[in-house]
Amino acid sequence: MKPARILFVCLGNICRSPLAEGMLRHLAQKANLDVIVDSAGTGGWHIGELPDPRAIAVAHKHGIDLTAQRGRKIAVEDFDAFDLILAMDKSNLRHVRALAPTAALPKVHLLMNYALSRNEPVPDPYYEGPEGFELVYSMLLEGCTALVEKLAEPVSRSGNISSVR
Ligand code: 4NP
Repeated sequence: MKPARILFVCLGNICRSPLAEGMLRHLAQKANLDVIVDSAGTGGWHIGELPDPRAIAVAHKHGIDLTAQRGRKIAVEDFDAFDLILAMDKSNLRHVRALAPTAALPKVHLLMNYALSRNEPVPDPYYEGPEGFELVYSMLLEGCTALVEKLAEPVSRSGNISSVR
């Protein structure tokens, strides 16, 4: 089976989405699940930059290394290159939807809604202290753990053949 290709999107691509990228890669590896993961921002202020030091620190504390990742801006090619495009908050979701070709709209979701059926944002921690990053870390852990379980689900349990009795 081809690995799922997942793109996380936030505003700056230095706090939330790089943390989600590193975390999903880490959790998928532990679960022996083959995925292609990347992240991007809707804004271009941090292109080529390392993730925010506070994101690197909270990830490092939990055994995840973000230092090979660099900021980039979402591009129209991403809608072909990825199967799932998961936005952190409603504003990111609006921006991604506005950029998406109509055919790609079904790939675009709010992360917590897709993973946990919870229509809630992962809040922007940029102007917060370290506790803001801890909150983002714990929300992303919940979201990415559920995402790994969903991606690892055999087709027979995902509903695709539920009508075949
Ligand atoms: P992120 O956080 O969207 O989670 O990466 C932000 C990073 C930078 C800025 C805003 C949010 N900024 O305005 O530069």
